[in-house]
Amino acid sequence: MKDFKRTLITSALPYANGPVHIGHLAGVYVPADIYARYLRLKGESVLFIGGSDEHGVPITIKAKKEGVTPQDIVDRYHGIIKKSFEEFGVSFDVYSRTTSKMHHDTASEFFKTLYDKGEFVEKTSEQYYDEEAKQFLADRYITGTCPHCKNPNAYGDQCEACGTSLSPLDLIEPKSAISGSKPVLRETKHWYLPLDKHEAWLRKWIVEDHKEWKTNVYGQCKSWLDMGLQPRAVSRDLDWGIPVPVAGAEGKVLYVWFDAPIGYISNTKELCQAHPELGSWETWWKDDSTRMLHFIGKDNIVFHCIVFPAMLKAEGSYILPDNVPSNEFLNLEGDKISTSRNWAVWLHEYLQDFPGKQDVLRYVLTANAPETKDNDFTWKDFQTRNNSELVAIFGNFVNRALVLTQKYFDGVVPACGELTDYDQQTLKEFADVKQEVEKLLDVFKFRDAQKEAMNLARIGNKYLADTEPWKLAKTDMVRTATILHIGLQIAANLAIAFEPFLPFSAEKLRTMLNLKTFNWNELGHIDLLKAGDKLGTPELLFEKIEDAEVEAQVQKLLDTKKANELANYKPNAVKELVSFDDFMKLDIRVAKVLECTKVPKADKLLQFKLDDGMGGRTILSGIAQSYPNPEELVGTQVCFIANFATRKLKGIDSEGMILSAENSDGKLVLVSPSKLVTNGVNVG
Ligand code: 2FM
Ligand code: ZN
Repeated sequence: MKDFKRTLITSALPYANGPVHIGHLAGVYVPADIYARYLRLKGESVLFIGGSDEHGVPITIKAKKEGVTPQDIVDRYHGIIKKSFEEFGVSFDVYSRTTSKMHHDTASEFFKTLYDKGEFVEKTSEQYYDEEAKQFLADRYITGTCPHCKNPNAYGDQCEACGTSLSPLDLIEPKSAISGSKPVLRETKHWYLPLDKHEAWLRKWIVEDHKEWKTNVYGQCKSWLDMGLQPRAVSRDLDWGIPVPVAGAEGKVLYVWFDAPIGYISNTKELCQAHPELGSWETWWKDDSTRMLHFIGKDNIVFHCIVFPAMLKAEGSYILPDNVPSNEFLNLEGDKISTSRNWAVWLHEYLQDFPGKQDVLRYVLTANAPETKDNDFTWKDFQTRNNSELVAIFGNFVNRALVLTQKYFDGVVPACGELTDYDQQTLKEFADVKQEVEKLLDVFKFRDAQKEAMNLARIGNKYLADTEPWKLAKTDMVRTATILHIGLQIAANLAIAFEPFLPFSAEKLRTMLNLKTFNWNELGHIDLLKAGDKLGTPELLFEKIEDAEVEAQVQKLLDTKKANELANYKPNAVKELVSFDDFMKLDIRVAKVLECTKVPKADKLLQFKLDDGMGGRTILSGIAQSYPNPEELVGTQVCFIANFATRKLKGIDSEGMILSAENSDGKLVLVSPSKLVTNGVNVG
C-alpha cells in the first residue's frame, strides 16, 4: 500500500427523515467508528466526517404528510440522529448538516466550477408533471409498477422490491404520489453529468487498479460498468434543495445525490475552520498523501464508486477514494428492516429498554455484521452473545483477575516471579493477537477482528481456570502473585484491544485498572501495569440479559407485525345483494357448548356437542388451529345455522354450521352473543 500521511474517513450521511436504527449502525457507523478509533489509537492522523443528508424528495413528502415544512422535519431528525450517534459512541470529528450555509455555498460553487468547465450536458426532455399539484414529479414523487418484478409500488428512482434503479419513464402505469392523478409529460431543462465520457478511466481505476476492494463492492461496480454508463441528471424541478446556481434555472435545485457527497467536503471545511490545528481542509481533500475512505451501505455503492469520483475528477483538484468498504444489509428477525413498516430496532428506543448497554449492541452488530452478505439480527442471538461471550468470557475473566487481586493483594498489582513454561506459552499466544487483529482491521474484516480480540479474553479465562490462583493462595503466595500479575496484564491488553469495538467498556476497564495511557502500539506488551500499581475498584463490565427482557422485545415486534396487518387489511368486496326473504331462509340460533374435542386424524376439525334448546346436536367445525385448547370453549355460547343440511365429515354427522369470523391474521374467532341468552333462540 502507498505510504499515506493521513486518513479521511467519511460515513454515509443518513437522510434526516427518520431516526436511525440497528441497520444503519451495523452497516456503516460502527465499522467506520471502529476503524477511526483504531487509527487514532495507533497515533495516526485521522478525521472522521459525518452529517445529516437533509435534501431529497422523501423529506418533502414527509413534511407534506405532516403538514409542516421540510425544515421542521430535518431539524427534528437531525437532532435525534446526532444524539443517537453520540450515545452509541460514534466518534465523529464533525457531525453537521446539508442545510448549513457552508454546505449550500460549497455545493453551489462545486456545481458552478463544473458548469464553467463545460463538464455538464444541458438537455431538454419530457418529464412527468402533475397538473393538479402543478409541479414536476421527481424521483419518489412518482410511483408505478416496476417493469422488472411488477411490484405495483415502485418509485421513480428505484424499486425497493427488486432493488433495480429506475427512471420515472420506466414505470408502468405511473401515478403522482402527491395527488394520485395520472401525470402528463412536459418539457423541462436539466444538467447531466456525462458518465459515459468518464467510463474509460473509471473502468481502469476500479477494475484494474482496485482489485483489492471488497468483492461485493468490486462486483457491483464492474457490473455497472459492463452495462455501460449513461449521463445522469444532477438537477431536479423541486422547491427543496440547493438552487441550481446558473441563470435560467429558476425552480430547479441540485439533485440530492449531487449535493450529499459534497457534504463530506463542506463538513471537513467547517471542522478545519473551527480547529486550525487540523490543517487546511484542502490538505485533507486535495493532497494525494491523504487516504480517503467512504464507509457506506450497498445501496450507495454506485454513487460513491462511480458518480462522486466522476464529479471529483471533473472538478480536477480532488483526490479519489482509496477504498469504499461497503456492507450489505442487516435484516431483523428474518425480515427486511423497513422504516415505513416500523420493522426496526430504533437506537433511541433500544437505549430506553437497555440503558447503558450501548456496547452490547455494538458487540452483537459487529459479531454479526453483514460484511459479505445480508445477515439477520435476532433477539435470541443478542442475548446469547451477551450472556455467553461478553458476560461469561470477557466480563468473567476481568472480574476474576481484579477481585482476586483485591482479595489477596489489597488491590495492588503483585510482583511477577519466575515464569513457568505454561506462563511463557500463554504470553506468547497473546502477543500474537495484536498482529492478527491488525491484519483483519486493515482489510475491514471487523467481525473477525473482534473475534480475534475476544481470543485475548479466552486466553485469560483459560489461564486462570488452568492455574487456579484461588487454590494456590492457600500455599504459595509467590506463585499466586505471578499468576495474577499475568492475568492483570492480559486485562490491560483487553482494554486496549477493545477500545475501537467497545469504547465504553474499554474505558471502564481502563479506570478499574488505573491505566493512565492508552496506545494501540502497546498491545501485546506485558508491562502495561507495574508491580505496586494501585488498581481502581472492580465493577461488573457486563450483566446477564434475562429471558423476559428479550421476550418483551420479540413481543414488541409481533405487535408491530399485527399492527401492520391490521393497517393493511382490506375487507373483501360486499357480496351480491339478498332479499329479506332470502335472509329469513337461514335459521341462525344460539347454543351452549357442552363438549368440545379434537377430531382424531383431522388437523382442522373440532367436534362440538351443543345444547341447542331442542334436545341437543353435534356439529363439526374447521377451527381447530385457532383454538388449540378446545376444552376452554365448554360453557360458552356460539351461534350456528340450524337448518344447514347434515354432512358427514370423518364418519361423523355434522348437523349444522357454527359461525366464526376470520381475523386479519387468518385466525378464526367464534361468534357469540355479547350477553347470556336462552339456548335455542333465533338470531336475526
Ligand atoms: O442512502 C442514504 O441514506 C443517503 N442519504 C446517503 C448519502 S451518502 C452521501 F453521499 F452523503
Ligand atoms: Zn422491481
